[in-house]
Amino acid sequence: MNENLRIAVVGATGVVGREVLSALLDRDVDAEQLTLLASERSAGEELDYGEETLEVEQATPEALKGQGLVLLATPAEVSRTLAPVAQAAGAWVVDVSSAFRSDGSVPLVLPGFNSELLDAPLKGRVVALPSAVTTAIACVLEPLRRAFGVAQVQVTALMGVSSGGNAGVRELEQQTAALLSGREPEAALFPQRVGFNLVPQVGPFLANSPWTEEEAGWTLECARLFAPRGEVPVVAGTAVQVPTFHGHGLSLMVRLKKPAPVEQARAALKGAPSLKVLDSPGEKVYPMPSLVTADPTVHVGRLRSFPQAPEWLTLFATVDNAGRGAALNLVEAGARLADRPA
Ligand SMILES: NC(=O)c1ccc[n+]([C@@H]2O[C@H](COP(=O)([O-])OP(=O)(O)OC[C@H]3O[C@@H](n4cnc5c(N)ncnc54)[C@H](OP(=O)(O)O)[C@@H]3O)[C@@H](O)[C@H]2O)c1
Repeated sequence: MNENLRIAVVGATGVVGREVLSALLDRDVDAEQLTLLASERSAGEELDYGEETLEVEQATPEALKGQGLVLLATPAEVSRTLAPVAQAAGAWVVDVSSAFRSDGSVPLVLPGFNSELLDAPLKGRVVALPSAVTTAIACVLEPLRRAFGVAQVQVTALMGVSSGGNAGVRELEQQTAALLSGREPEAALFPQRVGFNLVPQVGPFLANSPWTEEEAGWTLECARLFAPRGEVPVVAGTAVQVPTFHGHGLSLMVRLKKPAPVEQARAALKGAPSLKVLDSPGEKVYPMPSLVTADPTVHVGRLRSFPQAPEWLTLFATVDNAGRGAALNLVEAGARLADRPA
């Protein structure tokens, strides 16, 4: 990235924010270019950045002035407040929260999928990113769609507790310690105990709806991403909070528009740069959250079909939720925006 670009990472102390710093370091962004921001709770905290130590400041309108790029890794309600402030101050803004994903006036961009939107004329200076689960779904569906067409997808997303940020990680640590000591822990962030349990609710339910916001998000975000390709697969499923820390696993049933032998489907997936195919079950090789951490690709494997319904393909995928599913999207989209003429 241009060495004169000033970059603010807002939410730098969070699960995603820390991954953003790691991705910026990988791109050799100089510490001098960075401003790390978070809530007033973290003001004065110090974070490592390579050999350097950077101090976190409170995210105020003043702190957003003079920035060329603002990467928002903050809760949705915070992004709703800060994005317009950063935009008005002249910065390019990329937001990883759900705040703008359903806002038709804000482009929804998945780098590597529809990055070209970042070069097109834009109404404003704010760009939204899809969720980590949508990132994985889109990466798996696109090569299948190109090869065979995709009509419908059923998803069960098994989501590690880092989807709930630092507080989610702490809650599983505390619950596990309590349970191993024979105590029944209280649920705080999560609606039910997640330690040694599975909770089929991630985040709040939509008002007057049996769907959670997370689940409805996959349907809506996939519709927005795929609509320009003239083919919108129906995506629906269940989000389950599971007692792992990092990485999401997705069990996917994909109805193709024409039957595809598994070998052909595997070949289509192998050709996609955003994917790594791990599919040698006889040798115990398949996607697992423990393998995907810090990997920029989505892992996919356990490909199956059955003769009675040859258009259905069953598979399993994993994604590093905070890395590929959030921080890399923020940094890659931000880098491309920052390359635009002012
Ligand atoms: N975790 C994931 O896997 C994932 C994946 C995709 C998208 N996302 C989205 O990414 C965003 C961040 O998630 P996370 O998991 O990193 O959460 P997190 O660990 O809870 O971190 C939240 C960050 O936001 C900061 N923050 C909170 N209130 C603020 C305020 N009023 N002003 C400025 N900063 C404030 C926090 O600062 P303090 O430390 O000072 O509280 C912290 O740095 C969320 O919108 C989430 O939905 C997360």
